[in-house]
Amino acid sequence: MSVINTDRRVLSGMRPTGKLHLGHYHGVLKNWIKLQHECECFFAIVDWHALTTHYDDPHMIEQNVWDMLVDWLAAGINPGSATIFLQSRVPEHAELHLLLSMITPLSWLERVPTYKEQQDKIKDKDLATYGFLGYPLLQAADILVYRAGAVPVGADQVPHVEMCREIARRFNHIYGRDLGFEEQAEAAIKKMGKKASKAYTQLKTLFQEQGDLEAFERACALVNDQQSISISDRERLIGYIEGGGKVILPEPKALLTPESKMPGLDGQKMSKSYGNTIALREEPDLVDQKVRTMQTDPARVRLSDPGDPDKCPVWQLHEVYSDQSTKDWVQEGCRSAGIGCIECKKPVIDAIITELEPIRARAKEYEDNPDMVRGILAEGCEAARDEAKQTLEVVRDAMGLGYR
Ligand code: TRP
Ligand code: SF4
Repeated sequence: MSVINTDRRVLSGMRPTGKLHLGHYHGVLKNWIKLQHECECFFAIVDWHALTTHYDDPHMIEQNVWDMLVDWLAAGINPGSATIFLQSRVPEHAELHLLLSMITPLSWLERVPTYKEQQDKIKDKDLATYGFLGYPLLQAADILVYRAGAVPVGADQVPHVEMCREIARRFNHIYGRDLGFEEQAEAAIKKMGKKASKAYTQLKTLFQEQGDLEAFERACALVNDQQSISISDRERLIGYIEGGGKVILPEPKALLTPESKMPGLDGQKMSKSYGNTIALREEPDLVDQKVRTMQTDPARVRLSDPGDPDKCPVWQLHEVYSDQSTKDWVQEGCRSAGIGCIECKKPVIDAIITELEPIRARAKEYEDNPDMVRGILAEGCEAARDEAKQTLEVVRDAMGLGYR
């Protein structure tokens, strides 16, 4: 079976945490919305990943899935451009996870930084489970089952994508060789003569064991300098330096999402765990109330006290929402005690309400039509599954499981 080129395919996923907030919108969704027009995108609601940490109270996952899906759609993820699906409805993720587990060294999983970090952080749960250890491998299966070329993620997820690349490399190394490839390559080495053969083998080992790129270059140069060997032997020998063989599962690249500047109501990063969020479906009255009661520069007790925007979280919101003239007005008015804090907050409140208005309207439509939402998801799951099935056929064949 031929493997189509999927370099430009994008896959990303989000755990179903329920209703999303402005931090998700500015940090992740706006980037996805842009990508969906540029690439072939797959966006997964990874409910199995939610189970790795919430296995003891799984009942909220269902509602969280629907809430998150409605927010994705309302924000502008377009089922006509992107494939939106639920991980647990594409069982091929689980099959690939299992198959990959056969070749995954335990030490690779144990050294993923989030493994220890999360265990230390989440004290109220026992995360010394098999499922939690396998979290990044399940994520690798999510990516590899679509042969995605790029994975948009935040900086915290880069080690996971890195491990996914290592798994793909190992898989290709073990299962991507044609029968006899190694023997032919070894025979070609002998044809180079004693001295060159020895140098070649040393450089190849240096590259494979230590990733020494200079050794790679020198080995290639050495092969290219050989007059006595055929072109096909030359190609074989170059392929053999890298570990050789066919690429069955291409290595994806992490597409680092720029850190969002969206601050929470207290100036820290907006996050549900800090309780400083504005939801995507927040009522205008509540937006108004939340911003109006926001902390400002603590030195500004009275209206007549001058303030410093650098010490005020409201200023960070102006940085996201205001044009230059409004920002000049804030800087000048705050430092000279010429404007009051409520006055200063007004343009931000208006900007957020305006931004959320169309999102809220679309969310309402989806809330009122749950069948439509289910239909969109069902269609996405089917399209995703078609792709995943193709990969599994190739994978099963490569692993000697082609009999059925
Ligand atoms: N681990 C990711 C997170 O916590 C979610 C995720 C699961 C994911 N599978 C993925 C992200 C595949 C990108 C690609 O954010
Ligand atoms: Fe903050 Fe604006 Fe008040 Fe200055 S005037 S302290 S920037 S809210």
